[in-house]
This record gives sequence, structure tokens and C-alpha cells, in this order.
Amino acid sequence: MIRIITFLTITILIMGCKTTQSQLTNVDENENNTTAMFVKDLLAKMTLEEKVGQMNLYTSFIDITGPAPAEGEQKVKYDHIKAGKVGAMLNVRGVENVRKFQELAVENSRLGIPLLFGFDVIHGYRTTFPIPLAEAASWDLEAIELSARISATEAAAAGLNWTFAPMVDISRDARWGRVMEGAGEDPFLGSLVAAARVKGFQGDDLSENNTLAACTKHFAAYGFAEAGKDYNTADIGLSTLYNIVLPPFKATVDAGVQTFMNSFNELNGIPATGDVFLQRDLLKGKWNFDGFMVSDWGSVTEMIPHGFAKDGVDATKIASTAGSDMDMESHLYVKHLADLVNDGKVEVQLIDDAVKRILTVKHKLGLFDDPYRYCDTQREKELIYKDTHLEAALEVAKKSIVLLKNENNILPLAKSGQKIALIGDLADDKNSPLGNWRLASEDNSAVSVLEGLEKYEDNTIDYNQGVQLQEGREQFIFELAINTTDESGIEEAVEAAKNVDVVIMVLGEHGYQAGEGRSRANIDLPGLQQTLLEKIYAANKNIVLVLTSGRPLAINWAAENIPAIVQAWQLGSTAGDAIAQVLYGDYNPSGKLPMTFPKSLGQIPIYYNYKNTGRPGPLEEMVFWSHYIDESNAPLYPFGYGLSYTAFDYSNLSIEKNEVGATVSVQLKNTGAMDGEEVVQLYIRDKFASVTRPVKELKGFQKIALKAGESKTVTFNLTDKELGFYNNQGEFVVEPGAFDIMVGGSSMDLLKEAFVLER
Ligand code: BGC
Repeated sequence: MIRIITFLTITILIMGCKTTQSQLTNVDENENNTTAMFVKDLLAKMTLEEKVGQMNLYTSFIDITGPAPAEGEQKVKYDHIKAGKVGAMLNVRGVENVRKFQELAVENSRLGIPLLFGFDVIHGYRTTFPIPLAEAASWDLEAIELSARISATEAAAAGLNWTFAPMVDISRDARWGRVMEGAGEDPFLGSLVAAARVKGFQGDDLSENNTLAACTKHFAAYGFAEAGKDYNTADIGLSTLYNIVLPPFKATVDAGVQTFMNSFNELNGIPATGDVFLQRDLLKGKWNFDGFMVSDWGSVTEMIPHGFAKDGVDATKIASTAGSDMDMESHLYVKHLADLVNDGKVEVQLIDDAVKRILTVKHKLGLFDDPYRYCDTQREKELIYKDTHLEAALEVAKKSIVLLKNENNILPLAKSGQKIALIGDLADDKNSPLGNWRLASEDNSAVSVLEGLEKYEDNTIDYNQGVQLQEGREQFIFELAINTTDESGIEEAVEAAKNVDVVIMVLGEHGYQAGEGRSRANIDLPGLQQTLLEKIYAANKNIVLVLTSGRPLAINWAAENIPAIVQAWQLGSTAGDAIAQVLYGDYNPSGKLPMTFPKSLGQIPIYYNYKNTGRPGPLEEMVFWSHYIDESNAPLYPFGYGLSYTAFDYSNLSIEKNEVGATVSVQLKNTGAMDGEEVVQLYIRDKFASVTRPVKELKGFQKIALKAGESKTVTFNLTDKELGFYNNQGEFVVEPGAFDIMVGGSSMDLLKEAFVLER
């Protein structure tokens, strides 16, 4: 049994920063805890160099099945593993490779401590699931957990035991390329999705050979990069930090996540990697996190250009003291940390604490019982890219699609007798649906939209590219060249559109236009796609626009003119089947936006849970209120929004007080002709508080399936947990007084009742 020691008062002064006992590992060694006893014994046998070795993570350098490297950095890494100077490897995958690396460590180093094998398993391993932002649009926590479970099963079968996921960064800025990796803008939805992913990756028992240690990232506020520019400064207030940024991180600690990753950004002047408050006081102190913290790639050394550390020695001292337990690819701990300890500049107790945390995770994974427990070639063959995995990927892909517009019920399409023109480079693209962060997927392996639609054989499809989206090479690390000049295919596409019943246009972003390093200053349709759309519209207005993107796009013109719009993100291996099944009504869309779609770029950051200000307006013909003179304050499509092929009616919102708060109920009726699912959302507004509260905050949701004509009473419980908030001291407080309680099918379409919390 692990007992948590809370806030012991022993205070040790280290290099001018206070480290309390409560911030160090809280595994109680007095109890008969096998892991704790094992780790304690092992630690006692380790030299300082071996301890520091555990705190070092290298990326893969060579196909280990080849000859040992003769010279250079690769040789250094190779020799370091053999000498016990490496604790974990990144980007080594496949049973054969993992086994060879593990052998290097286990059979050559003095103590034979096994390595961790980390990999960015972000939305699938080989079976590729929808990008995380898309999965969040499903609001289906079971489906999201299953997606992580299957991803872990495949990755573990490939020899891995650690994933660098989930990314739980809240973001309000669609320019930021990494919104594709998170759950969107809301901390309530984000927290539940984050916990579901941790449960999925880690399973019920970490020592099973189909689980991975999860890693919550990026701690913290990375999603608040100024102007949406990746790696940029984050400068936010305490209320936003405590109420918006931190809750999903805390939710993963509560879900038992084993590791954390810090972030590249500085937060309010302190690079996260060197932030004592975040890593020691909060995470390891107040939250009692007993796993370990890995730096982001090179983030220890990046404290030098940040202007926070003078040199590599200084960066090592700052990061290790602040609570970064493992150095990813800065190569600094392995060079300087032992000397810093020997010179009395870093307390050995901190090293012991970091190593204890790392060894504890290794022990929980069962690596000391069998370092090769993940290395079974038979399992690798059987479990990767299984049919049942693809079926699960298809299910969640369908659930992730959001129907944005459907004028005159142009959708679903009739299944026979239709002449269809399918237009757009992305319609015939088998790579872009895989999205970014799909390092183990096979290139061009997704079902394209064209392939998906062709399965409906009683209609005819005429495919035209229209305009090519990208020019030149497409790879994970290179800039993507977008075609902005070659319009040569447009004419043919216009001709094709002229005499058909319906035009399906698949437009949006290339699979590598979102993700790390892919911030965009313009979030409209890239390249010549807007021109193409308008020219096709001039020929045939009966257009269904399928948008595939890694972020919300600014699509004002389309929203005004195109009768049907389907947000299909990047949906992974089975994307084309999911899209076809939705277009033909074999699946009734049920997704809701996890992020606001802006009308104009200038509205960003735009989000539903904004503050009212002292001048909320609107004022008649007067300018002195909080607004734009050239754009409305309203979004194009709000958070929580999404249509169905059926219609849902909300009525009878009622609130009944009880001892712990209140029970809220609402009547939901499917008033349309099709069976369907609706995400019923509950929002609150705390009208007056000691720290101002947003105009709306999501505090509950349920996904309800109703047959045509069926109704149901949906109930929610409101307790302190939902009604309270974090004050600027980071304390959770519940303040009595007036609230609005709102329930509906989107953040902007809600029934409202007043409620007074008495205490
Ligand atoms: C990213 C992390 C990722 C790491 C290892 C970094 O560039 O920020 O999210 O886990 O690389 O691939």
C-alpha cells in the first residue's frame, strides 16, 4: 500500500530555493511496499554516475541490428547505455530493436537496470485514430478511452512501454498548430478527456504487457503561446492558470498518470523546465504526484536562449533543482550533474528523489521482473493493425464528425440514382487523414474519401482534383510548400460540376499543416482552395463541403453560401469510410465542437467562457462598449455546437435544491424523423464572486441516444465541485449567491433558470 505523506514540515534549503519533504517521493518506505523496498535497495547500490544515468534520455541513433557505431555522437550514446548512463530511449520501436537496446543496458551495465522505451503514441500506433481534437468532438469518453487502450496495446506489442501522451494543453487559439493534439478550449471537457486517455493507456494494471506508462504534457501553459506562435512566451494571470490551464493536468494526477513532461515555453518569465513553483510546489507538493517529470526535447538547454541559464552547467543546476527529473536530449545532466553534486551545488537528496521516481515507474511496469516483457514477436505480429482495431477506429471517427450546416436537408445523400462530382486534392489523399504525430503509421494507408464514397455503388462519382494543395516534399520535419499559383485544374473541375446532382468538395489542410511547429497566421482554406470553391459554386450551388483540418478554420464565405458543411478533421486510418457513412446517413452525426470557430482571425483568442467586462453592451449606435466596429463579437460556430439529421427539443428545465447543491433536469425530445444522439450540455454562471467568473462554464454533459419521437428526462447533479472555483491563491472556494443554470445543445443555445446557493 502506498501511503501519501502530506506536507511534512521538514524544510531543506537548497540553492536559495526551498524544497520541502512533501515535494519528494511520497512512497512510504516504512510500509511493506514491494516497489518502495525494491527501489530503496537498488538505490543504495548505485553510484552517483549511475543515478545520474537514470536521469538521461536519448533519442534513437542507429538501427541497432547493424554494427555498433565506430565514432561520433552515436558511439557515445551506445557506450553510455552499456555503462549505465542512460535511463530511457526515445524513438526505438519494433520488438527486434527494443530487445537489442534492452540487451545493451541489461547485459552490459553494472546493475543491469532496464531502459524505458518512449514514443509519441498520440492517436494510435499503426492503426491510426482521429487526431485528439477530433476525438474530443465526439464527447464520448468511453470511445476515447478505447482509442487509447488500443493504441497502447499496439505500441506495447511493438516493444514500447511509455507514451508521451496525453497532451492536455488547453488552447483558445486556432493559429497554434498543436491544437490538433489536445481536447480544445474547455477545462471541464479537457479534464475528462485527459483522464480517459490516461486510463486507456495505462489500463488497470501497469505490469500487464499491453499497457504503457502515460505522460501528461506540457506542464504548463504551452497552449497559451502568445499569438498562437509555437514555443512562444505564455504570460497569463493566476485566475486563468488555476481555472483553465491546470485542471486537466490535475485530473491526470488523480487518474494515476505515471509521468509528466514540462514545456518549452516560459510562463510569466520562468521557463517551465526551471519552474520550482510548477514542478515542486504544485505538482510534487500540493498534488502529491509520485511519478517523474521528463523535460521536453532539449528544453533544459533551451533555458540558455530563454535568458534564464548562463550555460549548460547553470541549466543543469536550475532544471534538476526545479524538479525536472529526466533530461530529454539536452545531454546536459549526463555531462554536469554528478560534478554539481560533488561540488555541493545540487543536493544529492534531489538526485535520489528523481531516481526513486524513475525506478518506481520501471518497477511498476514489471521491467525488473522481465526487461523483455514487451518483446514478443508473435504478439507484435498478432496485435498490430488488427481488424477489430480498425473497426474501433471507424466507430470513433464517425462520432468525431461535426455537422456544421445542412440547409434544406441536402444531407444525407440519396443512395442511388445520383450523379456526384467529387472535387478537391484532399478527396483522393490517403496520407493527410492520418494527420500529424503518426510516426508509426504507414504512409498513404488511410481510406480516402474517394474510396469511402466508391463503396456506395449505386451512384456515379466523377473525381477531379481541382487544384493541387501542396508542392514538393511532405515530411514530418520540413516546411510544406503550398501551391498558390497553379490553377490549371480548375476549369476541368468546373465542367465536371456543371451537370451533376450534387458536388462534394473535400477541402482543408494537408495532414502536416497542423502539429508542432505548424502555427498559421491565416487560418483560411490554404492555397487556391477558396478560389476553387467559389468557381465551382458559380457552376453548381448544390455543394456539400467536407472540411478536413487539424484546427478550426475561418470559413465565413462558405458558411454563408454553401448549403452543407461537414467538419471532418483528420480522422485516421478509416477516415474515408467514416465520412461516406455520415454523408449517406448510415451514421447520424453527433459530434459537437470542442473549440470555437471564429468569424475573423482578429477575434482570436475567441472562446465561449469569456468574462463579461464592465461594458458588455450592446449599445444602440454608441461605440463605447467591448466590441469590434468591423466584426460582430459572435463566433461563426460556437463551442459545443453541432447538428444532427434529426432535431432535438429542450423543455422543462427545472432545478431542485438538495443538501449538497441541486438536481437539474431537462426534458429532451427527438422531434425529427431519424434516430440520433445528442450531447446535452450543462453550463453555470456564477453571477457575483470574489474573483470574476466567466459568462458560462461547462459543468456537465451527457450523450443521449433517442429514437425518432422519443423523449427522456436528463438529470445532472450540481455540487460544490461544479459550483466552486479556484481563487488567486489557488484555493478551491465555493461562494454562496446567485447563479444562472443553463442547459442545451450548444454553448449558445440554452435554456436558463436562476439558482441561489445558500450556505
Ligand atoms: C514535443 C513533445 C514530444 C517530444 C518527443 C517535442 O518536440 O514537444 O510533445 O513528446 O518532442 O518527440
